[in-house]
Amino acid sequence: MVSETSLEARQLVLPLFVREGLDEPKPISSMPGVVQHTRSTLLEAVAEAADLGLGGVMLFGIPEHKDATGSGAIDPSGILNLAITDVVAEVGDALTVMSDLCLDEFTDHGHCGVLTPDGRVDNDRTLAVYAEMARAQAHAGVDMVGPSGMMDGQVAVIRAALDAAEHTDVSILAYSAKYASAFFGPFREAVDSSLQGDRRTYQQDYGNAREGVREALLDVEQGADVVMVKPALPYLDVVRQVRDAVDVPVAAYNVSGEYAMLEAAAAQGWIDREPAILETLTSIRRAGADIVLTYWAAEVARLLR
Ligand code: PBG
Repeated sequence: MVSETSLEARQLVLPLFVREGLDEPKPISSMPGVVQHTRSTLLEAVAEAADLGLGGVMLFGIPEHKDATGSGAIDPSGILNLAITDVVAEVGDALTVMSDLCLDEFTDHGHCGVLTPDGRVDNDRTLAVYAEMARAQAHAGVDMVGPSGMMDGQVAVIRAALDAAEHTDVSILAYSAKYASAFFGPFREAVDSSLQGDRRTYQQDYGNAREGVREALLDVEQGADVVMVKPALPYLDVVRQVRDAVDVPVAAYNVSGEYAMLEAAAAQGWIDREPAILETLTSIRRAGADIVLTYWAAEVARLLR
């Protein structure tokens, strides 16, 4: 009667990885239970997600060949664009189909953008590539794009590119307050990332909460339909502050490292796995997230039944 916070399948989004050239799903060792899908096992996963009543899926593609400009990202027959079309054909409107709009899975240097000759991430040249990537994903049929590269001005450029290409219905889930975090560690294995160094020149400083709120407000102004804070658990205060500052839905991404920590402790018998998962996700909701991206989405939807 007095419970303040609900956890419902429709509030959960399942991130999924699809890798070009696989014959069978490939386990990700640092994320027990999570795999890189083949194009066909991806469809089984999204059909299940739809049956379970999840809010959506977030697709990440891993190409066989990476290059300096991440050209696989804008190629209409690149793995992510093909997967979007497959998934939309499979689930129709039963799920919100979202795609990662970022270059790091596609570049051989592993950065989220293209580089200047001296090796720095070139914000504005990257924006032009993001615009093209947005058009390619929209053309493939995506419902919502997820720009995760933290380039300044990315939401405005993507909104304009989508509108100009008459994809006015494609919406934007903006990774607004994305912190340069050690908790993305296992994700690097998940996408076969070749990153050397770090992303501190474009992701947020983890000491800064006000800056996260400012980034979210800027994204709303530029046309974001949903703003996101990422990671979730070490940033629940930022989730709350963003929730209080904006009037669009707020998402939080319960990232790979958060997943790996709990799974590792549970595997050791040091923590009771299912209650810990439910408490974790409920805490993110309590902090103010309307939507939670989590690798446990399908399992939790089953538990909630
Ligand atoms: C960038 C991207 C990352 C994650 C989602 N999108 C990695 C990064 O910015 O380093 C991390 C997700 C996770 O750790 O679960 N395309």
